[in-house]
Amino acid sequence: PEVITVQELANRMAERGGDVVKSLMRMGVMATITQSIDADTAELVVAEFGHKVKRVAESDVEIGLRGDEDEAEHLQPRPPVVTIMGHVDHGKTSLLDALRHTNVVSGEAGGITQHIGAYQVQVASGQRVTFIDTPGHAAFTEMRARGANTTDIVVLVVAANDGVMPQTVEAIRHARAAGVPIIVAINKIDLPDAKPERVRTELLQHEIVVEEMGGETLDVPVSAKTREGLDKLVETILLQAEVLDLKANPDRPAEGSVIEAKLERGRGSVATVLIQRGTVKVGDIFVAGGEWGRVRALLDDRGQNLKSAGPAQPVEVLGLNGTPLAGDDFVVVDSEGRAREITEFRTRKRREASHVATARGSLEQMFEKI
Ligand code: GTP
Ligand code: MG
Repeated sequence: PEVITVQELANRMAERGGDVVKSLMRMGVMATITQSIDADTAELVVAEFGHKVKRVAESDVEIGLRGDEDEAEHLQPRPPVVTIMGHVDHGKTSLLDALRHTNVVSGEAGGITQHIGAYQVQVASGQRVTFIDTPGHAAFTEMRARGANTTDIVVLVVAANDGVMPQTVEAIRHARAAGVPIIVAINKIDLPDAKPERVRTELLQHEIVVEEMGGETLDVPVSAKTREGLDKLVETILLQAEVLDLKANPDRPAEGSVIEAKLERGRGSVATVLIQRGTVKVGDIFVAGGEWGRVRALLDDRGQNLKSAGPAQPVEVLGLNGTPLAGDDFVVVDSEGRAREITEFRTRKRREASHVATARGSLEQMFEKI
C-alpha cells in the first residue's frame, strides 16, 4: 500500500522534492511530487540519501484522544460536566453565579458573555459538578457546538418571560447532535410576566416533552435572582449524572480538551483545559493541538495554584510554547522529543490541508472566470 507522498518524504528528510523524484527515477520509479509511494520504496530512497530509516506508524504519531480504552477496574467515579446553554440574556451566567456565589455577570462588557467559562462547584452534598458557561449571542454558534461536544449534560436555560428563542432552538440541536441529555431550567420565575407553562408548550414544538406533559425531559423552574429552585436544579443534575454512571481513570497521563486559549501579557500562552481522563501535574510535558509545552503552573477557576488536576476538572495551564486553538486536544506525553515529533507532524498536516484548500480555491476561481 502507498504510505507517503514524495513531498512528505522529502520534507521528512529535509531534502528537495525534485531530488527525491530524480532519485526515484534512477530506481525506475516514475512518480511526481504529489504521488504516493510504498514504504519499501521510501526506505530505499531514504538509504540512497544516506539518512537513517525510522518507520513510525501514523497511528503512533497521531495520538487519538480516545485511542486506547481504560480497563474497567481502573475506572473511578468522576464529576459530571454540565454545559449551560440558551438564548442571549436568559440568565445562564447569572445562574452559574448563583451556584458559585460569585459575580461574573457584572464584570462582563455590556453583560454579554463572549467566552466559554469553565468552573467546578462543590454542591451541598459535597459532590462536585463541573459547569461550562457558553455565550447565548447568535455570533457564537461554534462555541455552543464545542460546549455540547465536551459535556455529559446540557442545562437549557429558557427565560420564563421570553420563552423559546432562536438560540434556544439552536442549543437543542447541538445537544441532540452530541447525543447529550437535556435538563430544562426555566429561569426568571420571579418576574411578574413569567409564564413557565408557555415555555413548556413551546418546547413541545421542538420535541422536548417535559415530565408534566407526559414526557421524560426534566424541567426545573428557577430564579437566579431569588435563588428559588436552585437546590432542585442541582438535585436534578446529580440525578441525571447518576444515571449516566460517569467514570474515568485518574491514574494515567492526562488527556483533555482545550476550552479556551489566549496569549496574555506577562503570562504567555494560557489554555483553559478540561481534563477528561488521567491526572495532569506541574512539570508534565504535553501536546495541545499543534503546540506543546511543559506545565509551569496549574490554576483553578479562582486563580488558586494546584499541583495536579484530575478527571472533569477545568484548569488553567501555563507553560505553552504557542497558543493552541479552542477545541484542540490536550495530551500528556512522555518526552519533549515525542511532543516535538507530534506537533511537527500535525503542523505539516495542517499546512498540507491548507495547500489543498488553496489549490481548490484557485481552481474554482478559474472556472468562475470561464
Ligand atoms: P449571555 O451570556 O450574554 O447569553 O447572557 P446570559 O444568559 O448569561 O444572561 P445573564 O446571566 O447575563 O443575565 C441577563 C440579564 O438577566 C441580567 O440583567 C440578569 O440580572 C438578569 N437575570 C438573570 N437571571 C434572572 C432571574 O432569575 N430573575 C431576574 N429578574 N433577572 C435575571
Ligand atoms: Mg452569560
